[in-house]
Amino acid sequence: MRLRPPPHAPPLLADLPARRLLCGPYDVATSAPRVVENFLDTAHFGLVHEGRLGDRGHLEVPNYDVVDDAHGRPGVPHYRAWQPQGSAAASAAGWVDYRYQVLSPYGAVLAKRGEGEAPQEAYALWVAPTEPEACRVWFTIFTADETRDDATLVGFQDTIFRQDRPVLESQRPRRLPLAGGERHCAADRLSTAYRRWLQREGITFGVC
Ligand SMILES: [Fe+2]
Repeated sequence: MRLRPPPHAPPLLADLPARRLLCGPYDVATSAPRVVENFLDTAHFGLVHEGRLGDRGHLEVPNYDVVDDAHGRPGVPHYRAWQPQGSAAASAAGWVDYRYQVLSPYGAVLAKRGEGEAPQEAYALWVAPTEPEACRVWFTIFTADETRDDATLVGFQDTIFRQDRPVLESQRPRRLPLAGGERHCAADRLSTAYRRWLQREGITFGVC
């Protein structure tokens, strides 16, 4: 499926590749913020997505900076990740530069590029909270790949999300705790920035 670019795309979406594919919906038995937080987390790549987004030889999370945009939404301008097969289009393992940005309480985008390149691929996450502890998830893939068919590219993301789902649905509490009670480490700083931003925005649905 080809999607027409939105007429007034936010700047962070405007520089992304023109080919756009929709993945989902996926119904998930957890809160919408849990899904966003998982999308922002890199520490699980080598454990949950071994052989694709990470491997056990590269579990360390390198130092990274969280930078708020003009609206106070947290993001990470650069995050360096080792990926055995970062996408359906990837032909070899390599270092990939990620750019993360929270777009809304239930939406975020990540863009990937090689050294010195414009983003070659990006994933936007859109979560519709249907109940405080249930949600429906879609992704938009933005890709410069013109060789692989839609089913191959969407199938890769289906596989990635099939790996995330049992982890997401096993987390307790299902609502994202904003009031404390969980331990965090330096690797979680984007997740904790997202939690603090939800708190500042007064979000009450799907959190506790
Ligand atoms: Fe994941």
